Amino acid sequence: MIKKCLFPAAGYGTRFLPATKAMPKEILPILNKPLIQYGVEEAMDAGMTEMAFVTGRGKRALEDHFDISYELEHQISGSSKEEALADIRRLIDECTFSYTRQIHMKGLGHAILTGETLIGPEAFGVILADDLCVGDTKGVMAQMMDVHRKYGCSVVAIEEVPHEEVHKYGVITASPLAEDLFLISDMVEKPKPEDAPSNMAIIGRYVLTPDIFDILRETPPGLGGEIQITDALKTQAANGMVLAYRFKGQRFDCGSVKGFVEATTHFYDLMKDQI
Ligand code: G1P
Repeated sequence: MIKKCLFPAAGYGTRFLPATKAMPKEILPILNKPLIQYGVEEAMDAGMTEMAFVTGRGKRALEDHFDISYELEHQISGSSKEEALADIRRLIDECTFSYTRQIHMKGLGHAILTGETLIGPEAFGVILADDLCVGDTKGVMAQMMDVHRKYGCSVVAIEEVPHEEVHKYGVITASPLAEDLFLISDMVEKPKPEDAPSNMAIIGRYVLTPDIFDILRETPPGLGGEIQITDALKTQAANGMVLAYRFKGQRFDCGSVKGFVEATTHFYDLMKDQI
């Protein structure tokens, strides 16, 4: 049973400047809840209770968010406002939170390798909070855990994207294995549309087996001079097996203003009577 989930959260969030000048992008709210909390709730829904964050300079608000604010609790104690803290209180009660800092920004693969100290030699989930996922019947990470439990290997979530958008993603070459499940033979990070092997894009959900750390250590810088998780997964696929799972649900690219607004609208329509 996988208990740990890694949240790479060291990025600068430049697309949201100036909002992210003094505030981590992961704290930007969709309605009244920070992006990162949606990710942590998804991990918890998948049975994970040990949340591990790779942060960077200027990210202290993340630690404060997953902690008690005594002054605030005292202020609203006994009032109807306490209800607004119910979800986050449950997370704090039922999960542990650990943090390490990525000192140099050397890519997602490097961020995941930085998290090794929090994860150790066991399989783990990775959630990129920018990709806000809403599962159809259960959360996307819970769906991926079902796949991992059955096959025991690394699993990446994929989505078919318009061909002109493949340059934003890791893109796979794969053959069908079962319903919504594909065996990966190759993958490439952010290809030009004319070079892309398919339109099956990796989105920000991974279940990784711990051999990925040794592979990452040996992975040379790739696109943009950064250590790419896509390159490491390609090696892992060549050594053994990596699966791509077409998740059931919806994803909002909250790393872009457009996706952020779409997510906001989606959740507002769902919750307008409650907020
Ligand atoms: C990262 C990965 C990419 C993946 C994407 C999903 O890119 O490098 O392979 O498709 O996340 O969101 P980023 O969006 O951090 O540039």
